[in-house]
Amino acid sequence: MPQARFAFPKGFLWGCATAAHQVEGGNTNNNWYAWENEPGRIIHGHQSGKACDWWSGRWREDFDRAAETGQNAHRLSIEWSRVQPAPDRWDENAIDAYREMIRGLIQRKLTPMVTLHHFTDPLWLTEQGGWESEQAPELFAVYVRKIVEALKDLVSLWITINEPNVYTYGGYLNGGFPPGKNDMNLAFQVLFNLLKGHSLAYKIIHDLQPSALVGIAPNYRSFYPARAWLPLDAAAANLLHASYNDAFPRATRTGTLKFGFKSAELPAALGTMDFVGINYYTRDLVKFALKPAQMFNERFFPPDAALSETGFLANVPDGFREGLRWAEKFGLPIYITENGVEDSKDLLRPRYLVEHIHQVWRIANLNVPIKGYFQWSLVDNFEWERGWTQRFGLWGLDVDTQKRIRRPSVDLYEAICKQNAIHS
Ligand code: NOJ
Repeated sequence: MPQARFAFPKGFLWGCATAAHQVEGGNTNNNWYAWENEPGRIIHGHQSGKACDWWSGRWREDFDRAAETGQNAHRLSIEWSRVQPAPDRWDENAIDAYREMIRGLIQRKLTPMVTLHHFTDPLWLTEQGGWESEQAPELFAVYVRKIVEALKDLVSLWITINEPNVYTYGGYLNGGFPPGKNDMNLAFQVLFNLLKGHSLAYKIIHDLQPSALVGIAPNYRSFYPARAWLPLDAAAANLLHASYNDAFPRATRTGTLKFGFKSAELPAALGTMDFVGINYYTRDLVKFALKPAQMFNERFFPPDAALSETGFLANVPDGFREGLRWAEKFGLPIYITENGVEDSKDLLRPRYLVEHIHQVWRIANLNVPIKGYFQWSLVDNFEWERGWTQRFGLWGLDVDTQKRIRRPSVDLYEAICKQNAIHS
């Protein structure tokens, strides 16, 4: 019997991604902790609480799981509010704890990719207006310098900012992120300040560590015209694509941030990306609608696609291929910085996993320099405004007992990582 085998390039990175606030527990000094304590903000009043208890050391057992199941990389984030609990104070113990954590990865032969900002801000920054404030980029840069000085001997793959688009939409347009505003002008200002912060961080990292590779991890959502014959649907889908997917990374090529119907110059952003990161989950079909406040569209999932457990995303691997082709156009190496599905019973995940990794193979085998794939996530973790209702882990988590439950997808992903291939 011939066996299909879809092999990946040598040295390909296979891992999982996590984020500090979602796994560490006890992050009580950031804007998300405050948000979780406001009634009605998080579904069922859920709280991050102990999360996956990494801060008290449980990362060790989870890194063991990753290493024992064939992974050779891991993406995690640093919690700014731990490192700099107040504007004039550094917590050297927290920095040491991160050094130990990252050494823990390296000892297990897991290449670290480190994210400097993954959705959360220190409370003191929020009190000064967060990323609405003109000071935020400089303040971020000070923290970045401190971290890179402390970790540069251990880390050479950096993500400055995770999903600047989701941070902005969630907090300033229509989502459930703090500060829960709905204001196009503020959204633009925040995205612009994030771009400034990214640009400063890029320069600092390269000054301190010339050989480092620095990127961002934008969320890529595939927007597809609902009615192929209607140019207005295509126009609405294009506008969304341009603002949501393309604006931020494109600015590192053009020096101009274009978002919605606004635009502003930032020459400092030019050339500030060494690789393209991409977080891909799903596709929306887009219909033109006379709704200016919603960027002239209505959206829904493709009716023939399988939905995830809580209906949060649809399994559309084709949208991933589209995203990878978009990433390819930057002419840089590509890392899939996140991809995954919420599925506590592991019914859809096996298929989702294989079908999405197959898309990666298709593009990688056209000689596009795709360097690695990070599955979201290693273990169930605190899923922001959707609390504990969504389970993205390869391992399940009993939040009360902290017991991990191995899902069947672990075996599947292990086989792919170990073989560096999908095979039958
Ligand atoms: C992207 C975000 O970066 C991550 O924090 C989140 O948990 C996943 N998407 C799943 O929604």
